[in-house]
Amino acid sequence: MGFADTAKLTVVADIGSCAALEPLALRIYGARNRPSGWFGRKLARERVDPMRSMLAICHDAEPGDAEAWLGYLLIGTPPSLGPIARVAGIGVLPVARRYGIARAMLDRAALELSSCGFSGLRVLVEPSLRAFYRQCGFEERQQTGWCLAFGTGNEVAPSPPRDWTPSGVQLGRTHGELFATTPEAWQAATARTTILHDGTFAHVSQEGTCMVVHRVLTVLSGHSGAHATAFVTANLLGEFASGVPVLAPLDSRNEQVLGQAGWTVVQRAWMMDKALS
Ligand SMILES: CC(C)(COP(=O)(O)OP(=O)(O)OC[C@H]1O[C@@H](n2cnc3c(N)ncnc32)[C@H](O)[C@@H]1OP(=O)(O)O)[C@@H](O)C(=O)NCCC(=O)NCCS
Repeated sequence: MGFADTAKLTVVADIGSCAALEPLALRIYGARNRPSGWFGRKLARERVDPMRSMLAICHDAEPGDAEAWLGYLLIGTPPSLGPIARVAGIGVLPVARRYGIARAMLDRAALELSSCGFSGLRVLVEPSLRAFYRQCGFEERQQTGWCLAFGTGNEVAPSPPRDWTPSGVQLGRTHGELFATTPEAWQAATARTTILHDGTFAHVSQEGTCMVVHRVLTVLSGHSGAHATAFVTANLLGEFASGVPVLAPLDSRNEQVLGQAGWTVVQRAWMMDKALS
């Protein structure tokens, strides 16, 4: 039995909004300890588009019958990525796995995106799913993940959040970027603050008990590497109460600096791309 005997696809817009998929996501991933509103926040952070996201349903059912939903693919189109769309989530119910449903959703989305001028589809992948995405035509582009350290100071002094690129900052001329999530993730985060230190900026949000560093812009100088290391240890961690967990996104630019500064890699992932022709 293959995909066609099992399922058919429709765009999520046909059932209304992507928010309607939350119960299906919980059936696929389990409730775990998810804070209320997690699914809606994810949709906003990733700029998920219901017109480009896919729903797989039993081949003989109507889209409106939620009992017949088998899996979904969320496609985000954050403006900061330009012509690259992003897989913001994919999941298939355990009973419907290995029938080609996920591949069919990715293929259909890729076709539609390509016809609308998108040049690539990107996903951040845990190591265990690299093989699956390779099977679906994606290639590794770079390593990514998250690093953890702990605050060493007192309470963070809240200051107004600045623009993703604050005025006066010219990347590569006045400032270097040490790490970054996306401007959309920063805008969608709650409890945001920007920490300023000697012309250096750190965009930080609070997620539960954890601080998340979204972007660090350090002043370029002849000693940038050493300056960055000093910033992410003494200055940045000193802004958070002692023992508070602080997470920062990992990428090839910052792994060495964060490692030297005593941060620990807590999650490794791959950024994988599929070219759309
Ligand atoms: C990962 C997942 C979406 C795959 O869905 P699926 O419908 O079973 O996948 P498909 O049947 O379309 O598989 C496509 C190909 O990938 C392979 N594949 C599927 N799951 C795989 C896995 N976990 N590891 C390695 N390869 C896998 C299949 O064998 C198939 O290859 P083939 O065509 O050469 O036989 C599904 O297992 C799932 O929902 N997992 C839990 C949620 C999750 O981890 N989501 C990803 C978050 S980014």
